[in-house]
Amino acid sequence: MNSLPVKNPDWLIKKIIKMGGSISFYDYMNFALNDPTNGYYGSGKAELGFQGDFVTSPSLSDDFSFFVGKQIEEWLIQFKSNHLCDQKLFVIDFGAGDGSFMSGLIKYLLESSNNSSEGVSFVIVEPNKGMIEKQKIKLKEFLSLGIDILWKGLEEIEGNNINGIFIANEVLDALPVERITFSKGKLFRQAVSVDKRSWRLFLDELPITRELEKSIELAKSKLGITIPPDDAPEGWTTEWHLDNSEWLKGIYEKINNGILLIIDYAKEAKKYYGPRNSNGTIISYKNQKTSNNILESPGNFDITSHICIETLIHDAVTLGFKNIGITKQGEALLALGLAERLYEIQKEFKTDLSNALARREALLRLVDPICLGDFKWFVFHKFKDNKLKINSTCLR
Ligand SMILES: C[S@@+](CC[C@H](N)C(=O)[O-])C[C@H]1O[C@@H](n2cnc3c(N)ncnc32)[C@H](O)[C@@H]1O
Repeated sequence: MNSLPVKNPDWLIKKIIKMGGSISFYDYMNFALNDPTNGYYGSGKAELGFQGDFVTSPSLSDDFSFFVGKQIEEWLIQFKSNHLCDQKLFVIDFGAGDGSFMSGLIKYLLESSNNSSEGVSFVIVEPNKGMIEKQKIKLKEFLSLGIDILWKGLEEIEGNNINGIFIANEVLDALPVERITFSKGKLFRQAVSVDKRSWRLFLDELPITRELEKSIELAKSKLGITIPPDDAPEGWTTEWHLDNSEWLKGIYEKINNGILLIIDYAKEAKKYYGPRNSNGTIISYKNQKTSNNILESPGNFDITSHICIETLIHDAVTLGFKNIGITKQGEALLALGLAERLYEIQKEFKTDLSNALARREALLRLVDPICLGDFKWFVFHKFKDNKLKINSTCLR
């Protein structure tokens, strides 16, 4: 039993007691993030950006959306020239946060001389009502201009014939994960329990489920991933992403012709599940600070974990997606014109120094190799015509 006592708000204590005093880590993360009244995203408490709890690439400045916009535009133009879309074209943003990405993207496409937003519907797939409210405020200007922006679940889009671009920036890292712990020679499912004397939460263990066992066996047979790894120390713990495959399946089944761009923190399996990574990658954020105490004030902190590169690609390819490439954010943004943009900003130094410095800092953070610059860009596609070749500048 891993004891990590923390004082917690009543709402979660009551919920856990009602569920028998112990819940899986997966359920804990799901409640802490997505509970409609108290969850970090569910309630809309999440604050992104310099003034908030943590920054994401689009919340730093519009530059990120402009670069990704350039890539999306290149894809949209190729969809049109290859007649991949007799009907509508969609750009679908999953987990849109405070709406910064969609706002920057629409600005870019409207300002572009290529008319590439013509015939395009913009959709946000966002399960958390609290975040939808923030997004609607951010996108008010475009809604009032009559731009076609819809908030829908994928299942609400008719038919299985969507043509377009699907993007998920820092969404898979927010999906609840299982945690697997190695203790006294056995594997356990990590749990969160209430100590009934002190009314505090602590990390606990539940027996491993058959579903987890099967998934671990599959990872061993298909990818050679050994859980626990040889030489795992007592208490070795890792995250296990059971939801990625279902999430990808929901998208795959809806696509007629489509490209899926996933951007996230990701590690290679060798490092992710290695003996030295003994407490996994889970971390929480508040006021721009990270904390390893994932039980602290649930609902008021973001909780996030890295993605495993090989398991994500395997999940996608098993469904039928083709992986056209993976690159680091730093390299993708350089290919999309980051150096030229930095040069343009330099020219503004004489006219508006403080603004130019702030923009330069935001740009450099996007490619900082120890943070956002190390994010991985995964590009997948599903095309009716398997032989079709599509250019992707971000992968050059
Ligand atoms: C870390 S934020 C990323 C926000 C945004 N993409 C950005 O880069 O600024 C995670 C977002 O994913 C949303 N989310 C959580 N679970 C989701 C799911 N199953 N499908 C889509 N979005 C989800 C959250 O509500 C939140 O808006």
